[in-house]
Amino acid sequence: MAQKPWDGRFSQTTDKMVEKFTSSIDVDKALYACDIEGSIAHLKMMAQQSIITQDEAAALLNGLEKVRDKIENGEFQYSDTLEDIHMHIESALGEVVGTVGKKLHTGRSRNDQVALDVRIYLKKETKAIMDSLLDLQKVIVTTAKQNIDVVMPGYTHLQRAQPVLFSHHLMAYYEMFKRDYERFEDCLKRIDVMPLGSAALAGTTYPINRDLTREILKFAKVSDNSMDSVSDRDFVMEFISHATICMIHFSRFSEELILWSSSEFAFITISDGFTTGSSIMPQKKNPDVAELVRGKTGRVVGNLMAILTIMKSLPLAYNRDMQEDKEPLFDTVNTLKACIDIYTAMIPNISIHKETMLNAAQKGYLNATDLADYLVVKGVPFREAHSVSGKLVGFAITKSKELHELKLEELKIFSDLIDEDIFDFLSIEKMLSRRITHGSTSYENVRKALEKASHLLNI
Ligand code: ARG
Repeated sequence: MAQKPWDGRFSQTTDKMVEKFTSSIDVDKALYACDIEGSIAHLKMMAQQSIITQDEAAALLNGLEKVRDKIENGEFQYSDTLEDIHMHIESALGEVVGTVGKKLHTGRSRNDQVALDVRIYLKKETKAIMDSLLDLQKVIVTTAKQNIDVVMPGYTHLQRAQPVLFSHHLMAYYEMFKRDYERFEDCLKRIDVMPLGSAALAGTTYPINRDLTREILKFAKVSDNSMDSVSDRDFVMEFISHATICMIHFSRFSEELILWSSSEFAFITISDGFTTGSSIMPQKKNPDVAELVRGKTGRVVGNLMAILTIMKSLPLAYNRDMQEDKEPLFDTVNTLKACIDIYTAMIPNISIHKETMLNAAQKGYLNATDLADYLVVKGVPFREAHSVSGKLVGFAITKSKELHELKLEELKIFSDLIDEDIFDFLSIEKMLSRRITHGSTSYENVRKALEKASHLLNI
């Protein structure tokens, strides 16, 4: 049996069931590279501070490299007896370098070690996620540019409301993913804090130099309170919250793509490469990617609930409960990355049915608000104009016609202020071009928004 680094005060061995139950190696082995990186920095700092000799440091550094090679070559043996990745690496180091291996853990505890490892991991992953969010934004902006003049019905309550540019609709998602990027960027400030040196909870008696460790590991700052450092998982909760909001955006986008690709809407076709078939119905071509992204949102929301509930009511400082932070965190990172990447690949594989979208925008009285606006321009108070337009809609329904298909005499029954110019006023072109205030859907505005986004994204 491998000896445990903490078993000095124990006279009986750990029950096998307990070993299995408390082990986290299956999950936290993903942190091996971060753990070794942290240990290397710790060793360099200890040698600099003469806590260990240069020779000892060299032997230990060399040993850690060998352990890393073993892990990467698949020669490493994992066992529940050694609980977690930290103890596995320390024990393997001892096997490689002999008794000097026992010096690695001087001046630190697994409590600050694990906090450091997770921060190293999440800093890297957050940056990678931010980069891929930029790629996604680029694809959205490019698609919007290619389809700048496509008109579609804009919806509220999933009922046709007013015509909008498809590019404007797409750019709404650009705005969402841009905010997601900014949230991760902000969160990075709280991740980028170096906790090592807090030891178990109270700090250490060795003359360590925490700032040197920070410098070696390229963290922005060292943590300021040892008890907070070992028990702070705000950065994990924060990251998963932001990831959840980002997934919510994906789930909304997915819902729209799923609806739009149905025969009922027929606004888009997702290419064969990004859809799947049915094992029973030969005609089926399903938007499974979008559906799975929508489904995976549930996992991430679940991960957020898990981490919040794990942290709730924990007394200071470290508690073993916190070992449960890794599964939701890793799963969130992996899920979000996969969803961003698949969307970035899928969006250019969607064809847009311009005519169908335009036709849909011309049916369903989407110009009723503009008819009211027309009357307002002629001096009618808005509420009254709204009522006239509403009555006209009711009338048009009985005639199975759209407002712009009614005859001038019919329109005049409801207001003699309506003239021949109404037909031009109610055209989609004119409706869009009147929406000129900042952020509205006119061509000019959308063009400006696309220019601004392209500039920010360097495309
Ligand atoms: N595997 C543990 C975790 O992930 C490492 C810290 C363990 N500390 C302890 N005192 N048992 O949280």
